[in-house]
Amino acid sequence: MMTRQFPGYARGWFVVAFSNEIADGEVKPLKYFGKELVAFRGNDSVIRVFDAFCPHLGAHLGYGGKVVGNEIECPFHAWRFGEGGVCTQIPNARRIPEKARVKEWPVRELNGVVVVYNDPFGGEPVFEIPVIPEYGTDEWLPWASMRYLIKTHPREIVENLADRSHFPTVHKTDIDSFAFDVDGHMANQRTKGRAYLQGGGIDEFSLVATYHGPGYLVTRMNGALQNYLLTAHTQVDEETVDLRFAVTLRIVGDRKKTEGFVAQYVSNLKHGFEDDIKIWEHKVFRDQPLLCDGDGPIGHLRRWYRQFYSAAPGAVAHSENSHLSG
Ligand code: FES
Ligand SMILES: [Fe+2]
Repeated sequence: MMTRQFPGYARGWFVVAFSNEIADGEVKPLKYFGKELVAFRGNDSVIRVFDAFCPHLGAHLGYGGKVVGNEIECPFHAWRFGEGGVCTQIPNARRIPEKARVKEWPVRELNGVVVVYNDPFGGEPVFEIPVIPEYGTDEWLPWASMRYLIKTHPREIVENLADRSHFPTVHKTDIDSFAFDVDGHMANQRTKGRAYLQGGGIDEFSLVATYHGPGYLVTRMNGALQNYLLTAHTQVDEETVDLRFAVTLRIVGDRKKTEGFVAQYVSNLKHGFEDDIKIWEHKVFRDQPLLCDGDGPIGHLRRWYRQFYSAAPGAVAHSENSHLSG
């Protein structure tokens, strides 16, 4: 799926797992950004992510590799890799070759997810994902989550943020007010409206949805229930996107009662996503779309999103004060 505007893979933090998918001492193969990776959690409970292929004879560390202390041991000839991906031990060798190392990826674990930083140009992280202070407290439920593998390019998913006019048609939602703004690596949508629920009923809501970089969207919603919605997408390869969404509700009154709302809530969200997915998987991307005055600021969003595909962070920084909607 070639594109002139968004070539290759974006720079930024991307979710590669929910925290509870990788226990202490566990190894998990990953495939993202067209590469094979391996994640493992050491005895210190810290998650590390390395390139998967052993520099020796090329075994995949994610299939049969094992955690020893805070290092990972290759299943083929037991070379061990630790801090910085450096080889620390080779059985029966007197000398460890200088080049014996694998790439270690920048990793953070927060808000119940594991994120890695991808920079195709090799740079260090230039921003951080903020902690959601309420997450993990007694007043909020744990994430209820879903995951989809979608045949699309992530620009389609991101473009939703500014696409005001798809809400009534795709999501059965009336929009009363809609604002979009960007600030460096962040883009915000602030919306008020009414959602017509599947099971009947109307939910008056207000929300602020913020992208922190190109692939990590947090939505704080006030409505019938208060919630955070995390929508994270990570490219597997140029054709496929791994989309995770997770919702946490604020416990109001009885915990059991709030838990009872979750299934219905997730089901509503699931329908919303699946309606988007059906569009994304079959549409074409128009580099020069034909827009009208009822559309949201799609051009503004694209200019913001392009920064994550440029060689230098911030290289496309002229969009912030733009008032153009096309
Ligand atoms: S291939 Fe990994 S130790 Fe030989
Ligand atoms: Fe949508």
